[in-house]
Amino acid sequence: MDIKNIIATNIKIDNCDVDFSKLVTDTADKKMGDFSVACFSLAKILRKSPMQIAEEIKENFPKLNIIDEIQVVNGYVNFFVNKNHCVQNILEEINSQKCFEKDGGNANKTVCFDYSSVNLAKYMHIGHLSTTMIGESLARIYEALGYKVVRINYIGDYGTPFGKMMYAHLTWGSEQELTQRGVDYLQDIYVEFCKKAEEDPKLEEYAREYFKKICDKDPQVYPIFNKFIEISKVTAKNILDRLDVHFDSWKGESAYSEDLDNVISLLQSKNLLEDSQGAKIVNLEKYNLGACLIQKSDGTSIYASRDISALIDRYKTYNFDKMIYVTAVQQKLHFEQVFKVMELVDNNFLGKLEHVYYGMFSLPTGKIASRKGKQAVLVDLMDYALNKTMDIMSTRPFTEEKKKEIATKIAYSALKFTPLKNERIKDSVFDIENAFSFDGDTSAYLQYTYARICSILKKAGDIGFENINYSMLSLNASQLVIELNNYKNILQKAQEQNEPSIISKYTFEICKLFNKFYTTEKVVTDDLESTKAKVFMIKNLKEILTHLFGLICIDTVEEM
Ligand code: ARG
Repeated sequence: MDIKNIIATNIKIDNCDVDFSKLVTDTADKKMGDFSVACFSLAKILRKSPMQIAEEIKENFPKLNIIDEIQVVNGYVNFFVNKNHCVQNILEEINSQKCFEKDGGNANKTVCFDYSSVNLAKYMHIGHLSTTMIGESLARIYEALGYKVVRINYIGDYGTPFGKMMYAHLTWGSEQELTQRGVDYLQDIYVEFCKKAEEDPKLEEYAREYFKKICDKDPQVYPIFNKFIEISKVTAKNILDRLDVHFDSWKGESAYSEDLDNVISLLQSKNLLEDSQGAKIVNLEKYNLGACLIQKSDGTSIYASRDISALIDRYKTYNFDKMIYVTAVQQKLHFEQVFKVMELVDNNFLGKLEHVYYGMFSLPTGKIASRKGKQAVLVDLMDYALNKTMDIMSTRPFTEEKKKEIATKIAYSALKFTPLKNERIKDSVFDIENAFSFDGDTSAYLQYTYARICSILKKAGDIGFENINYSMLSLNASQLVIELNNYKNILQKAQEQNEPSIISKYTFEICKLFNKFYTTEKVVTDDLESTKAKVFMIKNLKEILTHLFGLICIDTVEEM
């Protein structure tokens, strides 16, 4: 229920058709009313004093059951809402699912998300959680608002690392090991290659040759490359399945490497291309964006040209209204360049391309030894989290199977939620000691609150919800309900700012308000009237929380 909007649309002043929706604000001091309208800015337009205008608004305002009283004070009109009526409207709106209705206007808008997009044949690291989860959460937020969403995993299946692996594999590797150990094996031979290449720089040259063979689809090499890709894709897909992230497209960089000629002729036809020391560039100095490299001097494609080609392909395929890329902040310039080039090619792209970036997300050093390289490997972290939550669950009165099921939900949710908890641009260190604790700012706390709600509802049983007396709800309870009313606005705000943490903060707020309510009063008592009102409220609270948890990728747990 949009109370502000109801107030705004009911304000009438003679000979005046101002849009009042921006003028209705929440009052800071609730003693002065719940909402208020300041009349000062109207005084100039209407050539009347603010006091006069305020009086007129009060006079003309119709009788509404959600408004108890209207007061005029010093050029302000203050509205006092009727708590019972508001609470009733809000809860009925949730109960009838009306508050989850999607905006029909968005149904024919397509939004593509490019996220996760890992470089294959390498481990997924803790850093990949950010792009994967921020992208997924945003996709869900847009979906909840009715947009058509396309999830694209633009896999990194192209580049000289594959030449290195190929050389290593064919020179000292083994087919059997490749089949048995998959990505572990590919990582090993890659690391070994790098070590050997330090002593013998000629190896780099061989690697380039092998990479060229891959590009030329050499019949001896290309099938093996395909095997590398297939094996790594299966591994990545496995991890993504465990994170409950699923893509519509896995079309990666290699699919666009051969399209360079088309990109070049397109840019040439628009007079955008310049030669620079044998390479081809688009000069973006004018826009303070340096030069966007399109073709390397050896004639091959580059990250930017593949992205341009992918953009053209996606626009043809999906006719998107928005294309959103989720990557680390380090790629900011790359996307600014690509977007600028596309806008110069075709101003249809203007305003449709967005880069959503985030800061660094890491583990406290030494917490989980990384197998190779600098960062902790994601599956190791997942296993660590699962063991830790299994310990926590060990004393609970459930079957082993149930314990494992709950522990998995707590463990993986904690990981999934970490990059969504705080503003995405902030650097953060994963608080591995507290992430699984039931109190504090953790997903486990949210899940615990949800489980508590489920247990109250179970205890209450089937009590029926006819003729609810809303005046039985305490101040704490009605404050919570009024907060639930912000659901739609919060969703909208999170979408506008591409910021999942807005949902996270709101979810904490609601859970805290519920716990405040719950610690001060009993829900299920002998008083049927009071029980009924409270249980109805909690049933609808559960409904909202279920939606919110989905948006921030936290699994619901009915008992824990
Ligand atoms: N594979 C790249 C990386 O790991 C990220 C790709 C992001 N998406 C894109 N269209 N460039 O850094």
